[in-house]
Amino acid sequence: MTDLNLYMHKAGNGKPLFLIHGFPFSGQMWARQLGSLGSKHQVLAPDLPGFGQTPPSTGEHTVDAYARACAGALDAAGISEPVVLGGLSMGGYIAFAFARLFPERLSALLLLSTRAGADSAEGKANRDKTIAQVKEQGASVVTEGMFPKLLAPANYEAKPDAASELQAIMKGATPAGVIAALEVMRDRPDSTPTLSAIKAPTLVVHGKDDQVIPFSEAEATAKAIPNSKLELIEGAGHMPNLEQQAKFDAAIENFLATL
Ligand code: MLT
Repeated sequence: MTDLNLYMHKAGNGKPLFLIHGFPFSGQMWARQLGSLGSKHQVLAPDLPGFGQTPPSTGEHTVDAYARACAGALDAAGISEPVVLGGLSMGGYIAFAFARLFPERLSALLLLSTRAGADSAEGKANRDKTIAQVKEQGASVVTEGMFPKLLAPANYEAKPDAASELQAIMKGATPAGVIAALEVMRDRPDSTPTLSAIKAPTLVVHGKDDQVIPFSEAEATAKAIPNSKLELIEGAGHMPNLEQQAKFDAAIENFLATL
């Protein structure tokens, strides 16, 4: 998959901040941060294979292959200096792989709405079931199934813009991209044993009302990474960058200011 070029959303100048999207979105999920954080930093957000403007991958569907594609995207953008690398949920799974493969390319790590552990046997079986459903019925099986869990329950009414932005992004999800990403997530290794080896300063951010990944996962991750800080975002579910943009952006800016 190293021959695959990831489409990159870009804004701003200065120190690079590379943000990896969650499932089943695209780099477009960072549009607000490209505007806000992009006023001070160089924000880069790739579309992973089969999402947004990047074609599906014909190569390996693993977190390592996707992390290598992210490194390739940085090379293609002419960025050789260490970057602040962030990943939300599935993007976090890829960020853990990037941290293992390319520690020298990391100046700091942002672990957003994610977990370090691998899928349980039941979780893997569910991924297989979902892959079979997507093959038969298309990507909407996933996007419609996930939509009610993405935001904090109260935010479907309180934050209609966030809800409609997510729906619009998910409309672009292709069966090939969704199936490949389900394989990537199903087969990802347990990152827990490698957390203590992460040297880069790390910020762990999690919505208090995350219905996809419980807050306890973020607490455990932050505890295991030596140089880490944990930020709980009140009034947010799985998508704090959209549900509580001001709090999310402030958490990132405050952390970046400490580097
Ligand atoms: C995500 O939000 O990226 C995924 O839902 C995470 C997962 O399914 O494990």
